[in-house]
Amino acid sequence: MNDPALNTPSAAPSLAKLTALVADDLAKVNQTIIQYVKSDVALIEQLATHLIAAGGKRLRPSLTLATSQLLGYEGDRHIMLAACIEFIHSATLLHDDVVDASELRRGEATANALWGNEASVLVGDFLLSRAFQMMVDDGSIDVLRTLADASATIAAGEVKQLSLKGRIDAPMQDYFDVIQAKTATLFAAACELSAIAAGKNEDRENMRQFGMSLGMAFQLIDDALDYSGDASTLGKTIGDDLREGKATYPLLMAYQRANDDDKKFLQQVFEFSDKNTTDILIRIQEIFAKTQAISATVDCASGYLSKAKKAVDIYSDCYAKTALLDTLDFCVSRSA
Ligand code: IPE
Ligand code: IPE
Ligand code: MG
Ligand code: MG
Repeated sequence: MNDPALNTPSAAPSLAKLTALVADDLAKVNQTIIQYVKSDVALIEQLATHLIAAGGKRLRPSLTLATSQLLGYEGDRHIMLAACIEFIHSATLLHDDVVDASELRRGEATANALWGNEASVLVGDFLLSRAFQMMVDDGSIDVLRTLADASATIAAGEVKQLSLKGRIDAPMQDYFDVIQAKTATLFAAACELSAIAAGKNEDRENMRQFGMSLGMAFQLIDDALDYSGDASTLGKTIGDDLREGKATYPLLMAYQRANDDDKKFLQQVFEFSDKNTTDILIRIQEIFAKTQAISATVDCASGYLSKAKKAVDIYSDCYAKTALLDTLDFCVSRSA
């Protein structure tokens, strides 16, 4: 692990170093997940396992594990905490796919498509409650406060997003507030937890800032990929945000920069029509090209990336640091 060759940033950004760094711990996290997903009610285990076994990048728990190594933590609390983070993430995905009426997740039919909205919402509640049981098992009031605050903020962010639905003229600040709440806050908590477990109070704020900036960049790229990505690589349907009337950064930027005709078109499409016809999508792609909406989104994400890099740069060189720096680059250049 201390081979200097491993400390050189990779040419093509990937999660390879992060994966290698946390492999042993992540196997334990997956065991913990299996243990805590058990229930006497067959539907709970069936539905939750459908989502969890489909994989996913396990990015948030991997961040808890990697930052624990960065901070030199030597205990085993980080395993349960990482599992807990993935439970909260899974709960939000179940709820989010209902709200967004999404049909594809991690390359599989969504739980709501297979079992219906009611079952998805209820099992989402179960997973969130399980996460709280795990926090109590961990026994730290600081952990409990961090994750309770994060859970409330995520839910509030999703509600704020709902209240902005259909508003293509919404202030950009509202968009940033939403993505900070619904996405970046969990990344922030995932990283802060390792400082709490390691008893390094002096690192908490820095770890939190690292996760927060990374989370902002991550959601900005997710929002770009919702227009420019490939469904089979991403494992999600493309165009969900437009269909659901969710004004994300690329669309807000295109609207701000568009000429009067294009502005009118975007407004009409966004507020009134069936948005997923091929003609409409082609015209939107053209407006995005003219206004450079996707590259503006990537630029904005890169700004957050620089902030996150600064937060991790203060630590002495080690494999965990290199893996985290690679992870940052991956999050902005990713296609999956
Ligand atoms: C999806 O997150 C939800 C967002 C915040 C965009 P991920 O892209 O990390 O989902 P998985 O866990 O890898 O499936
Ligand atoms: C992220 O927003 C939602 C959560 C924080 C769960 P999206 O709605 O863009 O996430 P995807 O694209 O469905 O994964
Ligand atoms: Mg969604
Ligand atoms: Mg999305």
